Amino acid sequence: MPHPIKKIVCIGAGYVGGPTMAVFADRCPDIQVTVVDMNAARIAAWNSNSLPVYEPGLAEIVQRTRGRNLHFIGQAEGAKAAAEADAVFISVNTPTKTHGEGAGRASDLSYVESCARFIAQHAQGHTIVIEKSTMPVRAADTIKKILATGNSGTKFDVLSNPEFLAEGTAIRDLEKPDRVLIGGESTEAVRALADVYAHWVPRAAIITTGLWSAELSKLAANAFLAQRVSSINAISSICEVTEADVDEVAQVVGADSRVGPKFLKASIGFGGSCFKKDVYSLVYLCEHYRLPEAAAYWEQVLKMNEWQKQRITYKVIEQAKSGNGTVAVLGLAFKKNTNDFRESPAIDTCNQMLQAGLKLKLYDAKVYFAEFSKVLLPSANGSYTQAMSAVEAMQGVSAVFILTEWDEFKTIDWKAVAKVTQPKAGIFDGRAIIDVAAAKAAGFSVYSVGKAR
Ligand SMILES: NC(=O)c1ccc[n+]([C@@H]2O[C@H](COP(=O)([O-])OP(=O)(O)OC[C@H]3O[C@@H](n4cnc5c(N)ncnc54)[C@H](O)[C@@H]3O)[C@@H](O)[C@H]2O)c1
Repeated sequence: MPHPIKKIVCIGAGYVGGPTMAVFADRCPDIQVTVVDMNAARIAAWNSNSLPVYEPGLAEIVQRTRGRNLHFIGQAEGAKAAAEADAVFISVNTPTKTHGEGAGRASDLSYVESCARFIAQHAQGHTIVIEKSTMPVRAADTIKKILATGNSGTKFDVLSNPEFLAEGTAIRDLEKPDRVLIGGESTEAVRALADVYAHWVPRAAIITTGLWSAELSKLAANAFLAQRVSSINAISSICEVTEADVDEVAQVVGADSRVGPKFLKASIGFGGSCFKKDVYSLVYLCEHYRLPEAAAYWEQVLKMNEWQKQRITYKVIEQAKSGNGTVAVLGLAFKKNTNDFRESPAIDTCNQMLQAGLKLKLYDAKVYFAEFSKVLLPSANGSYTQAMSAVEAMQGVSAVFILTEWDEFKTIDWKAVAKVTQPKAGIFDGRAIIDVAAAKAAGFSVYSVGKAR
């Protein structure tokens, strides 16, 4: 029988585990929270002044909780912490499988499975095991089977408590979530976890469901968000050939309260570590359960995203080749206010341009260039260099390609830029953020996604 949760362990000190547990510790001073990770360097960073994750507000929370009721420890000390824990969160990575059955689509659960084995080996008494990672539906079956191999005196309840935070706004999302989702079979275990959240989240925002609905809801939520981006991007392509304006269309569509105005901005496409892998996971599940039409429906969301990147990049290549073949790439992060470039549109677009033999000048104030350059194709015909400012990137180019909606690109002085680019340079705004009229007045030909040229 579960008892009130007073000691929490979280396995995985990444983008989700670290910030989430910091907020738990901050909002629940009566609960001891311990975060374990097998990556010793990451744990050392969490215990230092230079945290491994940047999120506005995170450092302040860690400063006031670390050593009080928030602890970051390595794997070796994790066994004792797991033995004492009332609840253990699994918050490790669930990437797309790279080999074996389902490679390229299914989620790789090997990290989750190794956590379950660790818990089975070390937990004592009654322990609630909580899936915080995004899992395929029915993953809890696998976890339960592994837990059953543990010592017979230990009893487990498995809950699904997926995380909905978005990078860049993680602390705000954790402190004021739209909803918290807890799925489980044991009413007592669900209540014990709900009581933890109720320290700061209104009870009405805590949704409880069955285990399988909770697992599937997270995949469905990300699939709906990705689908919205692909839907407006599909509309952007027809706007461009009909002289409709995608921002105007989005405003009208979003004014319907059944649709709502958020997440309707046309762009080069979505990126980030979650959407693509989670939609693929859903596609794989549909295929696994022999639902090919449902699989094809969701896969089209991903195909649309790829097509959007490619079709816009072709325009840039065409423009650059009609000039000196040099392109300024403004923005490498997958969205503004983060240095994260996992699955960023900049990766595929830059590689496509490099394969076309172009010379790229890359600029992003926050992305670590040495890391980004590792994802660029080494054998492509083109070449690339790093620029230290947007203006430096635009010196002497025949095309400017905006890939991230950083605020600094919204206020570029196009009149001044026109003096340093090639005479007939084109601007390609993949985020539809610049003042098109001002850029045209400065003499540029301008492509802005979802608008006729
Ligand atoms: N990043 C996001 O914005 C976000 C949002 C919601 C949900 N999620 C989901 O949350 C999960 C975690 O994502 P993340 O971005 O925090 O991943 P991450 O890669 O940043 O962190 C995962 C951490 O788990 C550690 N780890 C892996 N296996 C371990 C083991 N057996 N023992 C100890 N430590 C282990 C790794 O060393 C790593 O530090 C994923 O399932 C992801 O889909 C992510």
